[in-house]
Amino acid sequence: MEHKEYKKLHAEWYELVAAGIDHSKEIDFWAKCIKESGEPVLELGSGTGRVLVPLLERGFEIVGIDTSKDMMDRCLAICKTKGLQAELHEQSMLEFDLPRKFSSIFLTDGLGLFTSDQDIRATFERVMAHLKLGGLFVFYFELVISKGNAGTTGNKWGSWNGDWVKGPDDVVIAWRHRQKYDPNTHIWNSLFTIEKFIGGTLIETEANERVGRYFTVDEAMNYANSAGFEDIKATDSFTEDPPSNASKEIIVRCKKPAKKLDY
Ligand SMILES: C[S@@+](CC[C@H](N)C(=O)[O-])C[C@H]1O[C@@H](n2cnc3c(N)ncnc32)[C@H](O)[C@@H]1O
Repeated sequence: MEHKEYKKLHAEWYELVAAGIDHSKEIDFWAKCIKESGEPVLELGSGTGRVLVPLLERGFEIVGIDTSKDMMDRCLAICKTKGLQAELHEQSMLEFDLPRKFSSIFLTDGLGLFTSDQDIRATFERVMAHLKLGGLFVFYFELVISKGNAGTTGNKWGSWNGDWVKGPDDVVIAWRHRQKYDPNTHIWNSLFTIEKFIGGTLIETEANERVGRYFTVDEAMNYANSAGFEDIKATDSFTEDPPSNASKEIIVRCKKPAKKLDY
Protein backbone atom coordinates (compact mmCIF):
# COMPACT_ATOMS: atom_id res chain seq x y z
CA MET A 1 0.00 0.00 0.00
CA GLU A 2 1.39 3.41 -0.96
CA HIS A 3 1.02 6.08 1.70
CA LYS A 4 0.55 9.69 0.78
CA GLU A 5 0.47 10.95 4.35
CA TYR A 6 2.07 10.46 7.75
CA LYS A 7 5.52 10.37 6.14
CA LYS A 8 8.77 11.45 7.83
CA LEU A 9 8.24 15.20 8.29
CA HIS A 10 4.53 14.77 8.93
CA ALA A 11 5.41 12.39 11.78
CA GLU A 12 7.89 14.90 13.25
CA TRP A 13 5.31 17.69 12.94
CA TYR A 14 2.57 15.54 14.52
CA GLU A 15 4.71 14.66 17.52
CA LEU A 16 5.78 18.28 18.12
CA VAL A 17 2.24 19.68 17.85
CA ALA A 18 0.78 16.91 20.04
CA ALA A 19 3.43 17.57 22.72
CA GLY A 20 2.19 21.15 23.07
CA ILE A 21 -1.42 20.17 23.86
CA ASP A 22 -2.88 18.92 27.16
CA HIS A 23 -4.59 15.59 26.36
CA SER A 24 -5.18 14.54 29.97
CA LYS A 25 -9.00 14.68 29.77
CA GLU A 26 -8.93 12.39 26.74
CA ILE A 27 -6.41 10.00 28.31
CA ASP A 28 -8.55 9.83 31.47
CA PHE A 29 -11.49 8.86 29.24
CA TRP A 30 -9.60 5.99 27.55
CA ALA A 31 -8.30 4.81 30.94
CA LYS A 32 -11.87 4.74 32.28
CA CYS A 33 -12.97 2.63 29.29
CA ILE A 34 -10.16 0.14 29.97
CA LYS A 35 -11.03 -0.07 33.67
CA GLU A 36 -14.61 -0.88 32.70
CA SER A 37 -13.88 -3.35 29.90
CA GLY A 38 -10.44 -4.76 30.60
CA GLU A 39 -7.13 -5.60 28.95
CA PRO A 40 -5.39 -6.26 26.68
CA VAL A 41 -6.23 -3.20 24.60
CA LEU A 42 -5.61 -2.62 20.89
CA GLU A 43 -5.29 0.88 19.43
CA LEU A 44 -5.95 1.16 15.68
CA GLY A 45 -3.70 3.77 14.07
CA SER A 46 -1.58 4.34 17.18
CA GLY A 47 0.72 6.79 15.36
CA THR A 48 3.42 8.45 17.46
CA GLY A 49 1.85 7.12 20.65
CA ARG A 50 -0.02 10.26 21.74
CA VAL A 51 -2.63 7.99 23.38
CA LEU A 52 -0.75 4.68 23.59
CA VAL A 53 2.31 6.00 25.49
CA PRO A 54 0.42 7.67 28.40
CA LEU A 55 -1.74 4.55 28.73
CA LEU A 56 1.40 2.38 28.87
CA GLU A 57 2.75 4.79 31.50
CA ARG A 58 -0.40 4.18 33.55
CA GLY A 59 0.40 0.46 33.47
CA PHE A 60 -2.18 -0.73 30.92
CA GLU A 61 -1.37 -3.52 28.49
CA ILE A 62 -1.95 -1.84 25.12
CA VAL A 63 -0.83 -2.91 21.64
CA GLY A 64 -0.81 -0.64 18.55
CA ILE A 65 -1.11 -1.11 14.82
CA ASP A 66 -0.32 1.50 12.18
CA THR A 67 0.61 1.65 8.50
CA SER A 68 3.16 4.47 8.85
CA LYS A 69 6.64 3.28 9.76
CA ASP A 70 7.69 6.90 10.36
CA MET A 71 4.94 7.38 12.97
CA MET A 72 5.69 4.02 14.63
CA ASP A 73 9.47 4.69 14.75
CA ARG A 74 8.75 7.89 16.69
CA CYS A 75 6.48 5.99 19.08
CA LEU A 76 9.17 3.35 19.67
CA ALA A 77 11.81 6.05 20.26
CA ILE A 78 9.62 7.80 22.88
CA CYS A 79 8.97 4.44 24.60
CA LYS A 80 12.69 3.72 24.67
CA THR A 81 13.51 7.05 26.37
CA LYS A 82 10.76 6.40 28.93
CA GLY A 83 11.82 2.78 29.54
CA LEU A 84 8.49 1.43 28.25
CA GLN A 85 8.00 -1.76 26.24
CA ALA A 86 5.72 -1.14 23.24
CA GLU A 87 4.23 -3.85 21.04
CA LEU A 88 3.53 -2.30 17.63
CA HIS A 89 2.55 -4.01 14.38
CA GLU A 90 2.86 -2.50 10.91
CA GLN A 91 -0.58 -3.56 9.71
CA SER A 92 -3.59 -1.86 8.18
CA MET A 93 -6.77 -1.66 10.25
CA LEU A 94 -8.65 -2.69 7.10
CA GLU A 95 -7.15 -6.18 7.15
CA PHE A 96 -5.17 -6.67 10.38
CA ASP A 97 -4.61 -10.16 11.66
CA LEU A 98 -3.10 -10.60 15.13
CA PRO A 99 -2.67 -13.87 17.01
CA ARG A 100 -4.76 -12.86 20.05
CA LYS A 101 -8.02 -11.27 21.13
CA PHE A 102 -8.58 -8.05 23.02
CA SER A 103 -11.01 -6.88 25.72
CA SER A 104 -11.01 -3.32 24.37
CA ILE A 105 -10.27 -1.90 20.91
CA PHE A 106 -9.99 1.86 20.30
CA LEU A 107 -10.12 3.77 17.03
CA THR A 108 -8.83 6.97 18.56
CA ASP A 109 -8.55 9.21 15.52
CA GLY A 110 -10.99 7.86 14.16
CA LEU A 111 -13.76 7.05 11.66
CA GLY A 112 -12.76 10.14 9.64
CA LEU A 113 -9.71 8.29 8.29
CA PHE A 114 -12.14 6.44 6.01
CA THR A 115 -13.85 7.91 2.99
CA SER A 116 -15.64 4.74 1.86
CA ASP A 117 -18.33 2.68 3.60
CA GLN A 118 -16.55 -0.43 2.34
CA ASP A 119 -13.38 0.42 4.34
CA ILE A 120 -15.45 1.05 7.47
CA ARG A 121 -17.22 -2.29 7.06
CA ALA A 122 -13.88 -4.08 6.54
CA THR A 123 -12.36 -2.46 9.64
CA PHE A 124 -15.38 -3.15 11.86
CA GLU A 125 -15.32 -6.81 10.70
CA ARG A 126 -11.65 -7.05 11.74
CA VAL A 127 -12.46 -5.38 15.09
CA MET A 128 -15.28 -7.87 15.72
CA ALA A 129 -12.93 -10.78 14.89
CA HIS A 130 -10.29 -9.53 17.36
CA LEU A 131 -12.60 -8.72 20.31
CA LYS A 132 -13.32 -11.15 23.10
CA LEU A 133 -17.01 -11.92 23.64
CA GLY A 134 -18.55 -8.89 25.40
CA GLY A 135 -15.48 -6.79 24.48
CA LEU A 136 -15.68 -3.02 24.01
CA PHE A 137 -15.11 -1.11 20.76
CA VAL A 138 -14.80 2.67 21.01
CA PHE A 139 -14.44 5.02 18.06
CA TYR A 140 -14.18 8.76 17.61
CA PHE A 141 -15.43 10.89 14.75
CA GLU A 142 -16.07 14.48 13.74
CA LEU A 143 -19.63 15.55 13.02
CA VAL A 144 -20.84 16.65 9.60
CA ILE A 145 -20.31 20.35 9.18
CA SER A 146 -23.57 22.25 9.42
CA LYS A 147 -24.52 25.90 9.71
CA GLY A 148 -23.99 25.87 13.46
CA ASN A 149 -20.90 23.66 13.31
CA ALA A 150 -17.88 24.97 11.45
CA GLY A 151 -15.87 21.86 12.30
CA THR A 152 -12.92 21.47 14.62
CA THR A 153 -10.59 23.35 12.28
CA GLY A 154 -12.98 26.25 11.61
CA ASN A 155 -14.84 26.82 8.38
CA LYS A 156 -11.89 27.90 6.23
CA TRP A 157 -12.58 25.71 3.24
CA GLY A 158 -10.87 26.80 0.08
CA SER A 159 -8.34 29.18 1.63
CA TRP A 160 -4.76 28.46 2.60
CA ASN A 161 -3.95 28.58 6.27
CA GLY A 162 -1.17 27.32 8.47
CA ASP A 163 1.01 27.80 11.51
CA TRP A 164 4.42 26.87 12.87
CA VAL A 165 5.88 25.07 15.86
CA LYS A 166 9.33 25.19 17.46
CA GLY A 167 11.29 22.04 18.25
CA PRO A 168 14.58 21.30 20.01
CA ASP A 169 17.97 22.26 18.47
CA ASP A 170 16.69 25.45 16.78
CA VAL A 171 14.17 23.53 14.68
CA VAL A 172 11.11 25.34 13.29
CA ILE A 173 8.44 23.41 11.41
CA ALA A 174 6.02 25.48 9.34
CA TRP A 175 2.96 24.06 7.64
CA ARG A 176 0.17 25.22 5.41
CA HIS A 177 -2.77 23.52 3.85
CA ARG A 178 -5.73 24.29 1.65
CA GLN A 179 -8.78 22.23 2.42
CA LYS A 180 -11.66 21.51 0.11
CA TYR A 181 -14.95 20.13 1.37
CA ASP A 182 -17.74 18.45 -0.57
CA PRO A 183 -21.01 19.04 1.34
CA ASN A 184 -22.70 16.22 -0.59
CA THR A 185 -20.28 13.44 0.35
CA HIS A 186 -18.97 15.09 3.58
CA ILE A 187 -15.47 14.27 2.32
CA TRP A 188 -12.66 16.81 2.63
CA ASN A 189 -9.23 16.75 1.07
CA SER A 190 -6.19 18.92 1.41
CA LEU A 191 -2.62 19.35 0.31
CA PHE A 192 -0.64 19.59 3.52
CA THR A 193 2.85 20.99 2.95
CA ILE A 194 5.50 21.06 5.63
CA GLU A 195 8.83 22.92 5.75
CA LYS A 196 11.57 22.25 8.27
CA PHE A 197 14.07 24.98 9.15
CA ILE A 198 17.16 24.69 11.34
CA GLY A 199 18.73 27.97 12.44
CA GLY A 200 16.53 29.78 9.92
CA THR A 201 17.67 27.70 6.94
CA LEU A 202 15.19 25.57 5.04
CA ILE A 203 16.50 22.00 5.12
CA GLU A 204 13.56 19.75 4.21
CA THR A 205 10.09 19.93 2.68
CA GLU A 206 7.29 17.40 2.27
CA ALA A 207 3.81 17.35 0.76
CA ASN A 208 1.15 15.06 2.19
CA GLU A 209 -2.17 14.58 0.44
CA ARG A 210 -4.78 14.24 3.16
CA VAL A 211 -8.33 13.07 2.85
CA GLY A 212 -11.04 12.51 5.44
CA ARG A 213 -14.74 12.47 6.09
CA TYR A 214 -17.34 13.72 8.55
CA PHE A 215 -20.34 11.68 9.70
CA THR A 216 -23.72 12.13 11.33
CA VAL A 217 -24.45 10.37 14.64
CA ASP A 218 -27.02 8.16 12.88
CA GLU A 219 -24.50 7.09 10.22
CA ALA A 220 -21.93 6.16 12.87
CA MET A 221 -24.46 4.23 14.97
CA ASN A 222 -25.64 2.37 11.84
CA TYR A 223 -22.11 1.21 10.97
CA ALA A 224 -21.80 -0.29 14.46
CA ASN A 225 -25.27 -1.82 14.30
CA SER A 226 -24.75 -3.37 10.84
CA ALA A 227 -21.45 -4.88 11.98
CA GLY A 228 -23.31 -6.74 14.78
CA PHE A 229 -22.30 -4.63 17.78
CA GLU A 230 -24.79 -4.03 20.61
CA ASP A 231 -25.21 -1.58 23.52
CA ILE A 232 -24.33 1.20 21.07
CA LYS A 233 -24.05 4.57 22.76
CA ALA A 234 -22.95 7.96 21.37
CA THR A 235 -21.75 10.80 23.59
CA ASP A 236 -20.13 14.18 23.18
CA SER A 237 -16.40 13.44 22.91
CA PHE A 238 -14.70 12.23 26.08
CA THR A 239 -17.76 12.92 28.26
CA GLU A 240 -20.91 11.08 29.33
CA ASP A 241 -23.10 13.86 27.86
CA PRO A 242 -25.41 13.03 24.95
CA PRO A 243 -24.61 14.68 21.60
CA SER A 244 -26.06 18.21 21.39
CA ASN A 245 -26.35 20.99 18.82
CA ALA A 246 -23.02 22.30 20.10
CA SER A 247 -21.23 18.96 19.58
CA LYS A 248 -18.36 18.79 17.10
CA GLU A 249 -16.70 15.53 18.04
CA ILE A 250 -18.46 12.32 19.07
CA ILE A 251 -17.45 9.08 20.72
CA VAL A 252 -19.34 5.85 20.06
CA ARG A 253 -19.05 2.95 22.50
CA CYS A 254 -20.42 -0.47 21.57
CA LYS A 255 -19.92 -4.09 22.53
CA LYS A 256 -19.41 -7.42 20.84
CA PRO A 257 -22.32 -9.64 21.94
CA ALA A 258 -21.40 -11.61 25.05
CA LYS A 259 -22.83 -14.83 23.61
CA LYS A 260 -21.64 -16.40 20.37
CA LEU A 261 -24.19 -15.72 17.64
CA ASP A 262 -24.93 -18.10 14.77
CA TYR A 263 -24.57 -15.81 11.77
C1 LIG B 1 -3.96 11.45 13.02
S1 LIG B 1 -2.93 10.07 13.34
C2 LIG B 1 -3.50 9.63 14.94
C3 LIG B 1 -2.50 8.87 15.76
C4 LIG B 1 -3.00 8.53 17.17
N1 LIG B 1 -4.11 7.60 17.15
C5 LIG B 1 -3.43 9.78 17.90
O1 LIG B 1 -4.61 9.89 18.24
O2 LIG B 1 -2.59 10.66 18.10
C6 LIG B 1 -3.67 8.79 12.34
C7 LIG B 1 -2.82 7.53 12.31
O3 LIG B 1 -3.57 6.52 11.63
C8 LIG B 1 -2.67 5.79 10.81
N2 LIG B 1 -3.43 5.13 9.75
C9 LIG B 1 -4.05 5.69 8.69
N3 LIG B 1 -4.65 4.75 7.94
C10 LIG B 1 -4.40 3.56 8.55
C11 LIG B 1 -4.76 2.21 8.28
N4 LIG B 1 -5.49 1.89 7.22
N5 LIG B 1 -4.34 1.24 9.13
C12 LIG B 1 -3.59 1.55 10.23
N6 LIG B 1 -3.21 2.82 10.53
C13 LIG B 1 -3.61 3.80 9.71
C14 LIG B 1 -1.70 6.85 10.29
O4 LIG B 1 -0.50 6.28 9.80
C15 LIG B 1 -1.51 7.71 11.53
O5 LIG B 1 -0.44 7.26 12.30
